[in-house]
Amino acid sequence: MKKLLILYYSRSGNTERMAQAIAAGVQSYPEVEVDLNYHIDASELKNYDAILIGAPTYHHDIPLDFKVLFEEAASLRINLKGKIGSAFGSFGWSGEAPKLILEIMKNKFEMEVPEAPLLAKYTPDQNVLNSCKEFGKRISENLKNQG
Ligand SMILES: Cc1cc2nc3c(=O)[nH]c(=O)nc-3n(C[C@H](O)[C@H](O)[C@H](O)COP(=O)(O)O)c2cc1C
Repeated sequence: MKKLLILYYSRSGNTERMAQAIAAGVQSYPEVEVDLNYHIDASELKNYDAILIGAPTYHHDIPLDFKVLFEEAASLRINLKGKIGSAFGSFGWSGEAPKLILEIMKNKFEMEVPEAPLLAKYTPDQNVLNSCKEFGKRISENLKNQG
């Protein structure tokens, strides 16, 4: 059984809708167990094979909770090398947060980053929610093929 974490922050519910649609995509793979959460201790990250972070962009930056999480993971020397990492999030006009998160996943934690950031402008419509579902499926497929 592979374990996938969807960790998200969402102030007005837009990124949360994306997270739920991604989780629905993952749930079509019975061999992948999905946890949907808005908080986790850094030490628990090592229990997952894939970590998907949902980050809306506020003030051209990533949410503070994720900065703290990455700081803790680094200081505890949590080994995330080779795990799948992905990022998504709602935005209004610039949408940097998911891209910044992917950079940290790749450059600091040496995670595998198979997907470009998945973005939704403000409230995701049905098309975007379908893309979220497909995103969840592709990552599950990737995880399944990792062996
Ligand atoms: C105070 C404030 C600052 C924001 N700053 C940015 C920003 O720098 N770049 C951007 O693309 N969107 C920005 N936004 C828009 C949010 O990213 C957008 O409303 C998004 O849908 C929020 O997602 P959430 O509902 O998951 O929290 C800002 C919104 C607020 C209220």
